[in-house]
Amino acid sequence: MAANTLTIRDNRTGKEVEFPIESGTEGPPVVAVEKFYKEFGLFTLDPGFRSTASCKSKITFIDGEAGVLLYRGYPIEQLAESSSFAEVCYLLLYGELPNQDQYNDFVHKVTHHTMLHEQILNFYKGYRRDAHPMAIMVGVVGALSAFYHDSLDVHNPRHREISAFRLISKIPTIAAASYKYSVGQPFVYPDNGKGYVENFLYMLFSVPCAKYTISPVLVRAMRQIMILHADHEQNASTSTVRLAGSSQANPFAAASAGIGALWGPAHGGANEEVLSMLHEIGSVERVGEYIKRAKDPKDPFRLMGFGHRVYKNYDPRARILKKAAHDVLVELGRGNDPMFKLAMELERIAQEDEYFVTKKLYPNVDFYSGIIQSAIGIPTNMFTVIFAVARMVGWVAQWKEMIEYGEGIGRPRQLYVGAARRDYLFMNERK
Ligand code: SDX
Repeated sequence: MAANTLTIRDNRTGKEVEFPIESGTEGPPVVAVEKFYKEFGLFTLDPGFRSTASCKSKITFIDGEAGVLLYRGYPIEQLAESSSFAEVCYLLLYGELPNQDQYNDFVHKVTHHTMLHEQILNFYKGYRRDAHPMAIMVGVVGALSAFYHDSLDVHNPRHREISAFRLISKIPTIAAASYKYSVGQPFVYPDNGKGYVENFLYMLFSVPCAKYTISPVLVRAMRQIMILHADHEQNASTSTVRLAGSSQANPFAAASAGIGALWGPAHGGANEEVLSMLHEIGSVERVGEYIKRAKDPKDPFRLMGFGHRVYKNYDPRARILKKAAHDVLVELGRGNDPMFKLAMELERIAQEDEYFVTKKLYPNVDFYSGIIQSAIGIPTNMFTVIFAVARMVGWVAQWKEMIEYGEGIGRPRQLYVGAARRDYLFMNERK
């Protein structure tokens, strides 16, 4: 038996086959099972993909047991502390930190794709003013392919790069316009003299009738939120973008599919649910009641912002956001913010509770991000929009990698448990 293989024996037939075990740079090795069906006539079944690697990737590494997150090998803590969002975009897309010339060239390109075709703004007028901004984003991002026919050939590297810049550059403008439309304020055009994060905040909050200023502490907090949300290996929305893109659908359609997947409360929609949950709990005295509900298998209530499919340790992003929340609230003179106090007390109690400890349920990226966004002045229904703005670069980088690996269309199989073959019954033959 060769080393670095897994021998699988079908006890029904006695057939044994060796499958290669492949190791990566970090993390668990994989057993390559492409030939499994051909050898055994069996499919593997793993509905939640708990034991399934869908691809090889060089972009992001997570060690869920140790609570480690690396972007192209760089620890998230170091990037959140010292990098800019534009620099993290370059790193995720190209694999290396840029030198000064590369950085300047990248920032110039990203800055000069920020405007939307003027007719795109007409899409917003078709929505009700109270439409959820994520519903607007799904529609407008998907519609971008109606405007950019010149760069939709996914097999053309130049088209892939132009589409990548358009998505990364325009998503803040689209998101800010979604917000402005929902509050009945005029759209704010991008200001190419501002950095990526500053420009986004400017388009969100400036109004024509007043001078716009914002504290550097808030800009730093938003920068960290965006860096921390930029990519996260093969999460549900990224896997959606990869699968949609594997059919050779254009990147705008694939990104729109990712936005739809991110919206779910089990995924990116959790940050909005965390704030609603904290407001519902209302006071520290009621924390025990909700912890009890979260532990009750018959109660659908989940402690939003807690638990993670991969992290069975503290989500490193949550640790950074907890400190950022404290810094922002102190900057705003709200060091005793009741929601932050309640969140920290909820975390403390959960971390001492046997249920959460044994099930390794820790705060995740969504637990504190809403508190910061709320303090910055972002309304709850924009929290997942902000997540989508930040994650766009991760989706684009993963989409590009998937196309460049050239694995072809993703098409899972199933275990069929439905009705066996049967003949049609005419109406008078039916019971
Ligand atoms: C994101 O995948 C990613 O990388 C996502 C993300 C990214 O950056 O892309 O990190 C962003 O989506 C973060 C997760 C945000 N979602 C929430 O905060 C919603 C609340 N969390 C849960 O819905 C849940 O923890 C999930 C969906 C996040 C994970 O679901 P799993 O993998 O099914 O949970 P698990 O296997 O870890 O659960 C183990 C047990 C289960 O109970 P038993 O079946 O063993 O009895 O813990 C329970 C779960 O029911 N459990 C919870 C819980 N989360 C899991 N119980 C109470 N409250 C919770 N929050």
